[in-house]
Amino acid sequence: MSRVYNFSAGPGVLPEEVLKEAADEMLDYNGTGMSVMEMSHRSKEYEAIIGAAEQDLRDLLNIPDNYKVLFLQGGAHLQFAMIPMNLLKNGVADYIVTGQWAKKAYEEAKRYGKINCVASSADKTFSYIPDCSDLPISEDADYVYICENNTIYGTKFKELPNTKGKTLVADVSSCFLSEPMDVTKYGLIYGGVQKNIGPAGVVIVIIREDLITDDVLPGTPTMMKYKIHADNGSMYNTPPAYGIYICGKVFKWVKEQGGLEAMKERNERKAKILYDFLDESRLFRGTVEKKDRSLMNVPFVTGSDELDALFVKEAKEAGFVNLKGHRSVGGMRASIYNAMPEEGVRKLVEFMREFEAKHQA
Ligand SMILES: Cc1ncc(COP(=O)(O)O)c(C=O)c1O
Repeated sequence: MSRVYNFSAGPGVLPEEVLKEAADEMLDYNGTGMSVMEMSHRSKEYEAIIGAAEQDLRDLLNIPDNYKVLFLQGGAHLQFAMIPMNLLKNGVADYIVTGQWAKKAYEEAKRYGKINCVASSADKTFSYIPDCSDLPISEDADYVYICENNTIYGTKFKELPNTKGKTLVADVSSCFLSEPMDVTKYGLIYGGVQKNIGPAGVVIVIIREDLITDDVLPGTPTMMKYKIHADNGSMYNTPPAYGIYICGKVFKWVKEQGGLEAMKERNERKAKILYDFLDESRLFRGTVEKKDRSLMNVPFVTGSDELDALFVKEAKEAGFVNLKGHRSVGGMRASIYNAMPEEGVRKLVEFMREFEAKHQA
């Protein structure tokens, strides 16, 4: 068996210990004689799995009792619609557009109400986070929306926007569990799990109870009401059962690593290795304003499309895969999620140094 260093932006690398444990339990989970894939989601064994997953996530993020944790489907994209359908009461929301995912959420929400873009970093290809300390927040906004970590561009909100008392909604798909967060500052937090937490097919929504009501937009499908999922403990229909089981294992793994403070320390150390190299390199450079750099997604370029392509090719041959930047921006991007070992980042930097020595003008 040979594992590569996988820098994919998502689905991304998962902890090897988790994958091995899942493999060991594949044919016989805990003496049941069946795989978790084959198990009724109403069985007591599965109830224990989803119950423990929720509790471990609550422990990791210190989620207060007045927030529900929902394990849903439809990816982050379905949330682009579910959020306005459930949260619009005045029909108004403010969006901060810091990348393609925020923009898609904004465009989707426009189908349901008066949606304003109150700040954007589109003027500089989303390479920074705008100043959000005093935005023209609408008097009657039902919520303010951000994408907290911009996977494609490699920026992260280091400070949350001043929402002037309005409910904050955040897409944390690509920074979920990468560092501690204060859940009480948000009304709704959500993320697709396929980057830092588990296999594609599960989206986790953490929502304050007062936002869960029957007062949703007319025509909202039953499956798109938060209330139906909250009232049924994420079991209104068959949940993505196997995916939730893997998420649960990753939660336990994060706890074993020392929790989110330890994850943050480790992620900062890893990111520093790469950013320090980019700052000193005479060939490679990062594309993001330093103050807004993500700990998870690190985009960089050489300045030459040909050299970028050669780098991606040679890196792949050397066992560093999925370094090609998003198709909309080009260049390279190293996604260094929780499960990427520090050794992987060190070795990547060594490889970049060698490439630089060969190709620098
Ligand atoms: C921050 C962010 N939001 C949303 C999405 C879209 O996720 P999904 O494909 O699960 O709908 C992505 C995906 O890659 C993402 O990085």
